[in-house]
Amino acid sequence: MLNKPLEFRPSHHDLSKEVRQAMVNLLQQHLADTLDLALQVKQAHWTVRGPQFLQLHELFDTLNSELLGNGDDLAERITALGGVPQGTIRQVSQQSTLPEYPILADGADHVKELVSRYAQLAKATRKAIDVASDKGDTGTADLFTGISRNLDKRLWFLEAHVS
Ligand SMILES: [Fe+2]
Repeated sequence: MLNKPLEFRPSHHDLSKEVRQAMVNLLQQHLADTLDLALQVKQAHWTVRGPQFLQLHELFDTLNSELLGNGDDLAERITALGGVPQGTIRQVSQQSTLPEYPILADGADHVKELVSRYAQLAKATRKAIDVASDKGDTGTADLFTGISRNLDKRLWFLEAHVS
């Protein structure tokens, strides 16, 4: 979780500083969780074994690329609102709300772990859409909406492997 106030830069952006600060804090939490999950799916990409190896190995790499893209969009939205994104591995590990990824090999076990993390992030992202909308920041709400669609789709892809 965030444990200190984030830096904030003056801007001519017409949304109030209070709204932009609230959005930066929200976006930063999602940036940390997204980058954490990006490395966790890469860990799965490297360690998966079993009959579905190649399929899962390739899927997990695709998930990594998508999450890094989502993270880039979140970080640049923070910057556009006058904030300073915190995306180093130490900042991410301090702030992420996701559980640490276990040592696993079996493909079904990897999928199960990733399903729970995608479900957690998808739920938080849906909530973030409402928070941004309530604050009148339609740009941030739209960004979260696109990310939400991606997370929902990948949750489906993952769940389809195990049920
Ligand atoms: Fe690779």
